[in-house]
Amino acid sequence: MLRISKVIVASCILLAAVAVTATAAQLSQKELLGKMIYKDKNLSLNSNQACSSCHTGSVGWTGPNSDVNASGAVYEGSIPGSFGDRKPPSAAYATQSPLFSVQTQAGAQLFVGGNFWDGRATGWKLGNPAADQAQGPFLNPKEQALPNAAAVVSKVCSSTYGDLFVAVWGSTACDGSDIALAYDKIGLSIAAYEASQEVNQFSSKFDADKGRKCLTNQETHGAALFMGKAKCHLCHVGSGKMPLFTDFTFDNLGIPKNPENPATIADPTFVDPGLGGFLRNLAANDDWRKLTYVTNVSALESKQLEQLAVANEGKHKVPTLRNVDKRPDASFVKGYGHNGYFKSLERIVHFYNTRDVLPVCAATDLPLTDEYAQANNCWPAAENPNNINMQEVGNLGLSSAEEAALVAFMKTLTDGYKPK
Ligand code: HEC
Ligand code: HEC
Repeated sequence: MLRISKVIVASCILLAAVAVTATAAQLSQKELLGKMIYKDKNLSLNSNQACSSCHTGSVGWTGPNSDVNASGAVYEGSIPGSFGDRKPPSAAYATQSPLFSVQTQAGAQLFVGGNFWDGRATGWKLGNPAADQAQGPFLNPKEQALPNAAAVVSKVCSSTYGDLFVAVWGSTACDGSDIALAYDKIGLSIAAYEASQEVNQFSSKFDADKGRKCLTNQETHGAALFMGKAKCHLCHVGSGKMPLFTDFTFDNLGIPKNPENPATIADPTFVDPGLGGFLRNLAANDDWRKLTYVTNVSALESKQLEQLAVANEGKHKVPTLRNVDKRPDASFVKGYGHNGYFKSLERIVHFYNTRDVLPVCAATDLPLTDEYAQANNCWPAAENPNNINMQEVGNLGLSSAEEAALVAFMKTLTDGYKPK
């Protein structure tokens, strides 16, 4: 028996070593170009912000500032004082999201896919949600804040990697003949990088484990809970060959308002509408009918979309859990949920377990932060009270050892695992 277990341990190390070497794989020319664009701070109004400023590899491709994560969790744009209203999700594993579309399941319409918390980067334009998404931040006044596509194209063409841009996409990319097309190529280049092996490493302890028993007893226990009693797997799908720990659907978990969100500070009545807000815009704006990418959403009438907006109010896209614990050091804080309300994995797991068990926090003048809720053993009311999922989350009956095991399991999803 002992002999066999030694062999198993050895093969775990071997596989992990293969995974780590694979991550050092060379980028293609297009992926390299995308990386240059992704990291170029010059592509912002004040030359102070790149995509990587809010999506950094060392923190799991999300926000790299521990103090920001520990409070409002929303990042300042290129223009000082300008803020969005959500936490940056991971830019890794996002390219694998399908085009935003609707399916009918058990007589109800179920939305799937796209990028952003509310799915509004549909992929209908460039055939890839991440490429559609990548065209947004440069021109978003609350992010990189450049005036128009021509300004972005001009900066790319005159950059140190301008030649690479032409080498990859041809001379028309920089001759000014078709700015819209050149801007599309910028989006596609970034999406190529985001889809590369450097970004989507699949090199976690979980990946190394596959049938080789690398996980500790506690992590294995956590995996079993994740797939079973704790029901996480129903949305963060963890089975299959290279699972992404999301099914790209949308749900309202009833997460509390983050009182430190700049949007809430500016307007205490702010409520994030999530997918409902996007569907309302879609219904109001007939342009979506003209899109070349025909999806089954375009078969829906505006009136029906308005009803679906109500039914999807408050829902956010299920995020990947890969790299959910990746951080530069143990003291670095990450915020969890679309508004970064929860300040640790322990806390969000406790919420899943006890949302419907602990009392609602009593009225007070203090901000109802995660820290406050923890100290007072209560949960604040949901930010958005509509369509809260009452079936799968809220009262899981987990012991504190089971909560800890779930956290331990999620920590095995960090890329760059090196066996000791
Ligand atoms: C100021 C911070 C900031 C900058 C700069 C920024 N992002 Fe984001 N990013 C965010 C936030 C916040 C969201 C979520 C917004 C939402 O859902 O409405 C997001 C969402 C995303 C997503 C969606 C992931 C998913 O799973 O749906 C991707 C991919 C992404 N950003 C890539 C990029 C790229 C590429 C750039 C540069 C062109 C960029 N970001 C620049 C903050 C930023
Ligand atoms: C019904 C679907 C569903 C189930 C079941 C579910 N989740 Fe989630 N999870 C989501 C959605 C949707 C979000 C984002 C919600 C939001 O921000 O408003 C999320 C967010 C998270 C986040 C935050 C990730 C981030 O990057 O901010 C973690 C961690 C997480 N879930 C872990 C778990 C664990 C552990 C379980 C099992 C105890 C679980 N989830 C069960 C749908 C689900």
